[in-house]
Amino acid sequence: MTVRNASEGILSDDKSAQREELIELLRKAYWMEIETVMSYIANSVNPDGVRAQEIIEALKTDITEELGHAQQFANRIKELYGVVPGSMDFTAEQSYLQPPDQQTDIVHVIKGVIEAESGAIEHYNRIIEFTDGIDYVTQDMVIGILGDEQAHRRLFEGFLREYQAEGLA
Ligand SMILES: [Fe+2]
Ligand SMILES: [Fe+2]
Repeated sequence: MTVRNASEGILSDDKSAQREELIELLRKAYWMEIETVMSYIANSVNPDGVRAQEIIEALKTDITEELGHAQQFANRIKELYGVVPGSMDFTAEQSYLQPPDQQTDIVHVIKGVIEAESGAIEHYNRIIEFTDGIDYVTQDMVIGILGDEQAHRRLFEGFLREYQAEGLA
């Protein structure tokens, strides 16, 4: 393998420790996106009722975006000389997005989505800070993804407001 010198930034040999740390942050992001895809598929099918339809449509759109994010994180892991993990490494964390007892409980779904998006926003802000001055390509990619997550959360905060205004949440 050729020696990669300091002028190559994050890809240089003397940055291998930082690169490993960054790859670990990206792996976590990758799993978060994968789990969100699972949770949003379930929650775009399970809800019942007239008011559920808007939530279902919004989640269906998000599934495609979250899947795209997972692929972006996977590609970036490889570009940084990491390996995209296999499914046996996966650990579920989204306890708040499990199916509610009643499938008409839309508030449960809305709150769960807001929590998932907030978790992503927090983790991606951390990556943006970590990459500052180190890896602008990853930073630029994650800034774009962060914008998507902010838009997702804002949409669901709007849904929640409607329920709160009516004293239902
Ligand atoms: Fe995402
Ligand atoms: Fe999202």
